[in-house]
Amino acid sequence: MTLLSNLNVHRGDNLLLFDGVLSDGAGENHYVEGVAFSILSVGNYENKESHDVSGNIWIQTPGAKNNNTWYELKNPSDEYSEYWEAFVWLANLSKHVIDLVVVKPDGDFVVEKEDVVLLDFKSDFIDWLRVHHSGSEAFQRWHAMYGKDDFRQAIAAHRDWLWNQVFNGSTDRLNNCKLWEEVRYLSVVRPVPGTMERRTVVTPWVHRCFEHMFGENLKKVVPPPKDIGATLEAVVVPIASRMKRDRTGNIRCTEVTSVEPGTVVALRREGSDWGGKTMVWYAYVHGIGNGPDPEPELKVIWLYAPEDTILAKGKYPHHNELFFSDHCNCNEKPIHLSDLIGIVPVDFMVGPGESGKEFFVRQKYRTSDPAFMTLTKADLVSCTCGPGITSYEEVRLNFEVGDTVLLGSKKQDRDSLDPVMIHAFNDKDGLIAVRLFEMGSRYDPKARPNEILWTPAVKVVGPEFIYRRCHVRFVSEADLQAGKIPAPYGRDGTGDCFTMSAFMDTDRKIKPYTHDDFPKTLREGYCIDSPLPKDKPRMKGMDLFCGGGSFGRGLEEGGVIDMKWAVDIDVPAIATYRANLRDQGAALYLGSVNNYMEDAIRGKYSDLVAHPDEVDFISAGSPCQGFSNANQLKNNDKSLRNCSLVASVATAVDVFRPKYALLENVGGLATTRNLSAGVEINVFAQLVCCVVGMGYQTQQFTLDSWSFGSAQSRTRLFLSIAAPGAGLPPRPTRSHDHGPIVKKAGLFTAPNGEKFANRETTGPCPYSLITFKNGMRGLPNIGSGHVGACIPFPDHRHSRTENNLTRTLISHVPKFGKNRTWRRALDTGVMPRLFGDKVTNKTKLVPHCRSWSRLHEDGLCRTITTSLTPQCAFTGTWVHPMEHRLITVMEARRAQSFPDDEVLLGNNAQAFKIVGNSVARSVALAWGISMRYAYLEQHNILRR
Ligand SMILES: C[S@@+](CC[C@H](N)C(=O)[O-])C[C@H]1O[C@@H](n2cnc3c(N)ncnc32)[C@H](O)[C@@H]1O
Ligand SMILES: [Zn+2]
Repeated sequence: MTLLSNLNVHRGDNLLLFDGVLSDGAGENHYVEGVAFSILSVGNYENKESHDVSGNIWIQTPGAKNNNTWYELKNPSDEYSEYWEAFVWLANLSKHVIDLVVVKPDGDFVVEKEDVVLLDFKSDFIDWLRVHHSGSEAFQRWHAMYGKDDFRQAIAAHRDWLWNQVFNGSTDRLNNCKLWEEVRYLSVVRPVPGTMERRTVVTPWVHRCFEHMFGENLKKVVPPPKDIGATLEAVVVPIASRMKRDRTGNIRCTEVTSVEPGTVVALRREGSDWGGKTMVWYAYVHGIGNGPDPEPELKVIWLYAPEDTILAKGKYPHHNELFFSDHCNCNEKPIHLSDLIGIVPVDFMVGPGESGKEFFVRQKYRTSDPAFMTLTKADLVSCTCGPGITSYEEVRLNFEVGDTVLLGSKKQDRDSLDPVMIHAFNDKDGLIAVRLFEMGSRYDPKARPNEILWTPAVKVVGPEFIYRRCHVRFVSEADLQAGKIPAPYGRDGTGDCFTMSAFMDTDRKIKPYTHDDFPKTLREGYCIDSPLPKDKPRMKGMDLFCGGGSFGRGLEEGGVIDMKWAVDIDVPAIATYRANLRDQGAALYLGSVNNYMEDAIRGKYSDLVAHPDEVDFISAGSPCQGFSNANQLKNNDKSLRNCSLVASVATAVDVFRPKYALLENVGGLATTRNLSAGVEINVFAQLVCCVVGMGYQTQQFTLDSWSFGSAQSRTRLFLSIAAPGAGLPPRPTRSHDHGPIVKKAGLFTAPNGEKFANRETTGPCPYSLITFKNGMRGLPNIGSGHVGACIPFPDHRHSRTENNLTRTLISHVPKFGKNRTWRRALDTGVMPRLFGDKVTNKTKLVPHCRSWSRLHEDGLCRTITTSLTPQCAFTGTWVHPMEHRLITVMEARRAQSFPDDEVLLGNNAQAFKIVGNSVARSVALAWGISMRYAYLEQHNILRR
């Protein structure tokens, strides 16, 4: 069985067969079977007076064509009714679209309105439909079946059918509508002309950093003189002041008789003489104390050489740069003057080129949870071993009365966090009174998880229970019902964002708020449209490798970044990016980042190629195929070329010198591996070398999408980059707990012996894990999905076509028990052997083979990739937990936390690929908020 809307729309479907009862209207009925037909006609098009197409659907057999006989389709058989219902809905959609798009200006000529665009279907279409049809019950039923006002997704998912109906048999005057360019031809964003540059374009500086890894894959482009880009290659540092050395380069030990705070001294590294070379430690003296010894004790902070930091795994370009550290000698054995072997000439707070001394120090290296941070004068005063501030002082410093925060609490079996408002401070006792809120879901099962109620209760708590800021925003009950919730409050609590539309009175009765009586004492949380001070406008963002925009849109949801430029090479991705833009003015570059960078380096600026002064922020999710563990051929050419694209992110930082940048990739980026030539490389460490070498601050995180509320086990590495002096954004906050079992994850071992960028697993979260079942809440059961159209959720569609064999196979995979795999079904005899052997032979041999296995509804969805690979023995877990099919595009969207109302363009497989390539939206949003904090802090704006 198939949908009638496939006839002549999809390749191969140009003849269908009909089984059923033929009636001549005069009471004579004949049962017929296998009647071929190839023509379908739907009436009542181009007639706004009629409200629906019922009774106007006909088919014609080839034989009946000559005498123009049509058969009207009436009542479907039971087994066909699902298909029929979906088709009639689609036929009505095409009727309405045709009524809107096709006009007959005078008499015969039918023409299309050329200016209809996808955006018209967001809200204008339904308004227009209501003008013509609101009185019709049939129309209302039709609208209710869809369940929302925004028709863009239906238009995008059913584009082929709609276009076919408009274009069907008509004149060539049709097909001019902009809508078709947008959704069918994906041709609105034109590819940039010229030859695509296949090598990774880099600046001289980036070339110097990556040449030994990517050699032939790089194209060094030299900027025109006195223009942009770091030209460090050419800089010769005049070094006036050096330590005394012997011929072999060894430091000549000199006796040090006195030092002052602020001096840098050298000490011999014990047991580290290496190949005749004396290895030394460098230390910054910040104090001179009197210990029990007659000799004064030196209080020092260690200075780290690049090889003492995570840069060790890369090739650091400045040999004379040292890093201040957070490592002092307070808890180590005392240092005396007699331990010193010399005074070290060091310039602080200057860059390479600016120092006349042997060494320069401009950054501080944080040893635990490694980060590079701009050195400040305060760092030079003393180490941080002092008493510090109390937790009460910290709360007092960070929050004010009316701020909303998360309070530690105990919930059933787990530690949790609850939103509360700071009501008053008691400085005398160091305590804080907080206003308690209640979760709406306690009183209304339909309430979203992040709906909260104001209550009359106030409680006094100690400062140690206050964890962090959260955002609470008023949303009227009507807007809540209508789903009109401003971003980022419609994400069920991701980013610590809560809505409040009602309060609980002293009798525990719940009453709605209006905006006027919403408590003024509560400092309402920001929303995506909240203005910033005029003189501190949003940062202008550049979204490289932008894909369908999940990363970019999420970052914008923090309210401090507007993406102004986006670059991607993939047509459906950039079309999707465009469809979901907030700012229609964004410049979209359909072409290679390499060409973009080449133009930028050469100073060929245009509407699409930004000028370095304009760009404040860069996000980049460069392709990860080269680094994925799934990729077996890591060193092949294509794979290396993909890897080398990481260097274009460094290039973008070099060229545009943004305030902030954020890079996303898989953890495999940080794996040390041998190049075929025997060279050991670590791309991540090299990238850090490259940007720290430019003077940028960096920090890295391993983040799991489940920590932010996605029902997916996606784990990604983020490298956060900030310009000198700009505060690094804080770690995005984890709103959702992990499942019962969670493995350790981190990058390589740092020189201090610890793995770093570890997965955060301890500490309470407001919410527990979102399982597959929770994440898919509200999606209808579509069984095997064979109908091929889910009216209320147009993206609940397959990304690939199954044949009879694979469909039958899927239906035999057990739904219950521990092993819900194809292999298990074979082993236990549930699956007929026939299928076992036919589908794949190789995988059958692997023990614990995961081919064609089911997801667990109480667990997470596996990492969504660019396409489904059910036959793979390792990554084959793609069968729905309960329904006989693989997961749909909609389920992939949900697992990636795409908001339900956003649009995907392209065919089914392309849409799926866009989703699989994305940064999980929940994580992107959490980053958006983190960037917000960094931005507000930098501008001294109160956090909200
Ligand atoms: C991992 S995806 C990034 C997705 C995006 N961050 C998101 O959240 O949707 C990588 C993207 O890089 C694009 N790409 C690959 N090579 C490219 C190149 N040379 N120039 C521009 N884009 C490229 C791919 O089309 C793909 O959309
Ligand atoms: Zn100390």
